Amino acid sequence: MGNVFVFDHPLIQHKLAILRDKNTSTKDFRELVKEISMLMTFEATRTLPLKEVEIETPICKATMRMLKGEDIAIVPILRAGLGMVEGMQALVPNAKVGHIGLYRDPETHMPVEYYCKLPADIGERQVFVVDPMLATGGSAVAAIDFIKERGGKKVIFLCLIAAPEGIEVMQQAHPDVDIFIAAKDSHLNEHAYIVPGLGDAGDRLFGTK
Ligand code: PRP
Ligand code: URA
Repeated sequence: MGNVFVFDHPLIQHKLAILRDKNTSTKDFRELVKEISMLMTFEATRTLPLKEVEIETPICKATMRMLKGEDIAIVPILRAGLGMVEGMQALVPNAKVGHIGLYRDPETHMPVEYYCKLPADIGERQVFVVDPMLATGGSAVAAIDFIKERGGKKVIFLCLIAAPEGIEVMQQAHPDVDIFIAAKDSHLNEHAYIVPGLGDAGDRLFGTK
């Protein structure tokens, strides 16, 4: 069973509270998603492998350790996942970025795929699938299905707010995938929105409502 890690760091919780506020502007929302993603990336990359490199300081030659940055792929689930990419790239600039386009059918709440472009060597990479919201879990499960069908093996899911229902669905479908979240909320409402949540992440990020 995949582990669930809740990042309850005070800085993350503070920024998340502002993010949830319905009066937060689109500009601030976008910046907060970026900042929280950056802080979460710091923790979520704790176990990434390092490689030894030879460098020369002004004093002498030395063997140091550096990230194998080329071994990472960030895969945002469109649209809202896009908001998390910049913050992650700030810390892991050499990561390749794939994209999966999914939207929830408003009637059935089931995910519909409309785009998929992944790095050719996805199977060799540590893949970070990112989306601010895990509600029913349908989108995350489908995205990870697509990644595995195309050869992805090592997958981590990073999101800001998760419903207990979505976590359970993910753990059943992808028990090998660890889930990193900033908050586990109460439940889903009758429209499959997270309560208390933050509303529609894509609309708030791009100002479409
Ligand atoms: C939102 C969100 C997730 C999905 C979560 O996207 O960004 O992708 O819903 O819901 P689920 O867990 O029930 O699948 P949405 O479908 O609204 O598309 P958008 O990002 O294009 O707005
Ligand atoms: N998608 C969102 O953007 N928000 C929710 O609460 C649920 C799904």
